Amino acid sequence: MKPLRLGIAGLGHVGCGLVELVEAQARLRLPAQVSIRGVTARSRNRNRSVDVSGYDWFDSAEALAADPDVDVFVELIGGSDGPAKLAVEAALRAGKPVVTANKALIAEHGMALARLADENGVDLLFEAAVAGGVPIVRTLRDSLSGIEVRRVSGILNGTCNFLTSEMLATGRSYADVLAEAQKLGFAEADPTLDVSGTDAAHKIAILSAIAFSANLDFSKVSIGGVEDLDLLDLTFAERLGYTVKLIAEGVLTDDGVVCRVEPKVLEASHPLAQIHGSLNSVRVEGEPLGAIVVSGPGAGGGPTASAVMGDVSKLFRTGRRTAFGHAEHHLIREFAVAADTESAPWFLRVRLADVSGALASLSDALAKEGVSIDKLLQDSAHEDGTAPVAIVTHQCGRANMARAVNQLNQLSSIAGKPRLIRIEMDH
Ligand SMILES: NC(=O)c1ccc[n+]([C@@H]2O[C@H](COP(=O)([O-])OP(=O)(O)OC[C@H]3O[C@@H](n4cnc5c(N)ncnc54)[C@H](OP(=O)(O)O)[C@@H]3O)[C@@H](O)[C@H]2O)c1
Repeated sequence: MKPLRLGIAGLGHVGCGLVELVEAQARLRLPAQVSIRGVTARSRNRNRSVDVSGYDWFDSAEALAADPDVDVFVELIGGSDGPAKLAVEAALRAGKPVVTANKALIAEHGMALARLADENGVDLLFEAAVAGGVPIVRTLRDSLSGIEVRRVSGILNGTCNFLTSEMLATGRSYADVLAEAQKLGFAEADPTLDVSGTDAAHKIAILSAIAFSANLDFSKVSIGGVEDLDLLDLTFAERLGYTVKLIAEGVLTDDGVVCRVEPKVLEASHPLAQIHGSLNSVRVEGEPLGAIVVSGPGAGGGPTASAVMGDVSKLFRTGRRTAFGHAEHHLIREFAVAADTESAPWFLRVRLADVSGALASLSDALAKEGVSIDKLLQDSAHEDGTAPVAIVTHQCGRANMARAVNQLNQLSSIAGKPRLIRIEMDH
């Protein structure tokens, strides 16, 4: 088998991890040899965790992508637009297969890039773009192509999962835990993409496009994050027998493929409730399989580089599939904006002001919208004079709950903003 010569663009956590793996390939199980034709990054003089002085340096990612001696272009720069996109397009146009870990690029421009790859008859592979070292992209695309997927869901952002796990374990506030995670390198200096839910949204959009043969449209994804979560929400949920996690899900509905990222309250027995710290986990449900869950390290230079290398390894074999696995005979679905029609039990947490009749006005407001209470937990008043109350409702529509929360916002007996989180049962 002919060796493959890589052009590696981006020498950060993942790029350096890949260089290390190439240098240690005797210990791996690749079908044939991989070599590095050239590398590029923003700054040539930067100190890196691996010595790249022995490799040819290219001044731009696009020049590397177009080099005739590069067999596979590996994009590890990041960002949905700019140099990463230009270089990937240049490589595909030059008829070279591309391997990338870039979820932002694939979520925002995946369909157009997949078409460009098809036109040029080359592979576009992105296993590392979703859940880092967890092999879910090609598992879903290839190994699970014999099932009709109903739902794909998961914990797809290790930073958010670390934050919620750590807040609960240590009893510290969101801001405290985030500051420590940044100091330890678990969270980015600018954590916005992670904590806002956008990173998880990129990943679930990619998985949903594969799972449902759907036309990926990132603008339709509904995105919520963990920034507003209070330690109180996590501890009350735990006392009621639940766990709060940032869950990303893609569901096939009558309107189309609905993708949503939001904090959810999970029953303690739910498989995703067992995923702690920075781990990622994906659950695929469909017929005639039932459900499977795949979990593991969702980030980090080493695990992510191993997924990149797995894609490179696939390129030794001839025969290609379209990037998202879509074929002409498939029923192609469209992404749809989430509607408020779903019904579920809900977790509602409020702070009651210290006035008589406060609890009665809360239950009246809920009853007016047809929301009935299953469980209620109330603490005695805190130092600020308010008494926190958590309610678990019976099954009820999202729109009813939203109206009920609007009513609560008008009540003088409720201090601050109520927190509403959907409960997911272990089904
Ligand atoms: N880190 C993870 O755990 C992880 C997990 C899954 C997926 N990913 C994805 O993998 C990709 C890389 O992530 P990372 O963590 O390795 O990022 P990173 O550490 O920030 O590295 C980015 C690299 O890109 C280089 N770069 C920036 N602008 C460039 C340009 N115009 N031309 C060429 N190179 C340029 C930087 O050069 P300098 O070093 O000279 O500044 C740096 O080497 C991203 O798409 C990310 O989303 C990362």
